[in-house]
Amino acid sequence: MADALRVGIAGLGTVGASVARVLAEKSAELTRQCGRPISVTAVSARDASKDRGVDLSGSTWFVDPVKLAAYAEIDVFVELIGGDEGPAKASVKAALEAGRHVVTANKALLAKHGVALAEIAEKNGVLLNYEAAVAGGIPVIKTMREALAGNSVSRVFGILNGTCNYILTRMEAEGLSFEACLADAQRLGYAEADPTFDIEGNDTAHKLSILTALAFGTKIAASDIYLEGISNISQADIQAAADLGYRIKLLGVAQRTESGIEQRVHPTMVPTASVIAQVHGVTNAVAIETDILGELLLSGPGAGGNATASAVVGDIADIAKSRPGFQHGPVFGWPAKQLKPYKKAQMRSHAGGYFIRLSVQDRTGVFAAIAKRMADNDISLESIVQRSTEAKDRKTVILVTHETTEAAVRKATDGITKDGHLIDKPQVIRIERAA
Ligand code: HSE
Repeated sequence: MADALRVGIAGLGTVGASVARVLAEKSAELTRQCGRPISVTAVSARDASKDRGVDLSGSTWFVDPVKLAAYAEIDVFVELIGGDEGPAKASVKAALEAGRHVVTANKALLAKHGVALAEIAEKNGVLLNYEAAVAGGIPVIKTMREALAGNSVSRVFGILNGTCNYILTRMEAEGLSFEACLADAQRLGYAEADPTFDIEGNDTAHKLSILTALAFGTKIAASDIYLEGISNISQADIQAAADLGYRIKLLGVAQRTESGIEQRVHPTMVPTASVIAQVHGVTNAVAIETDILGELLLSGPGAGGNATASAVVGDIADIAKSRPGFQHGPVFGWPAKQLKPYKKAQMRSHAGGYFIRLSVQDRTGVFAAIAKRMADNDISLESIVQRSTEAKDRKTVILVTHETTEAAVRKATDGITKDGHLIDKPQVIRIERAA
């Protein structure tokens, strides 16, 4: 039998401990599948005395992950520290430069430095595997990089953050507050160290930027993503969406348009009958539209120790199966040096349907004024309804538009605001086409 693949794991939090545990518990299966054992020869974390539910007494212990990355007794460096700079970046770079394969779950690091790190990996002929960085346990990277070879992607979109989907699902199903649902997501280990990264959409944006590069062969452009989180989604929006036959999901969407590539993350209404609307709780889903295959939808556990560990272990097993001298495929599907510059489509030209919820004073002429602003901006309405509220002097007006542009909707809502009938800021939620 071939020599063991020697693994060093940096970061022993929820995910790192799960990876070490799975490697130990599934040792016999993995040895059979890979044709060689996988052994955790070294680890790095601050506290060696903590009980992590796995025996690591046979592993060499490092406090500094950069030292672990350069340790001669490992073949693979597994980075599960997190963060887009600091020890995570320094150790991954050091490992690649020392000719070690790297496995990481770090979407923030890849969103910021992925192309530069891929160049080092490709130059040194080592693998940089990152299946766990996008959509947890769903094998979307392998699917896009390998199974869809030859397909041209027109749109990729999905539910990429388990915490947000968990919150929205429970708010809708149980009428709970946003805060209560977020606290449960944190307790269950789904949320990021800083949960604003989840709820304000940054985590989804990091993952989307990686999918965009894979889909369109462009350089990663995470800072060019239009971003809106879910913190201002209320029960009123959730109930109105349900009444109109929609469900609200935080989606990341990347699509090819005539003016460039649109990358956006925002709360989105999808038809209740669509497949993606049935994706509940911490589950993630990714839809990929291509010319040869048509539409593919992958769904599965998107956050938490086991989901992430499953993807990390799969990446390690791929390295164990690879043979010395075998030429590895490029990290982002195209050689990093050949990735094209990202051409951004302006959000103002985004075309689609819109849901608009207005809190208005209850007086004569308000409805007519709203309708006029819509007509003046060439916006055709699919429906308009007025609802009573608990307060006698105010009403809620809900509009659903046919396809229009973001620019037209913004002009219309600015006009309605200027008319002086509104009590609150208009709530605007985009509607996404979904099968
Ligand atoms: N905080 C992330 C989520 C974890 O909720 O999806 C997985 O990246």
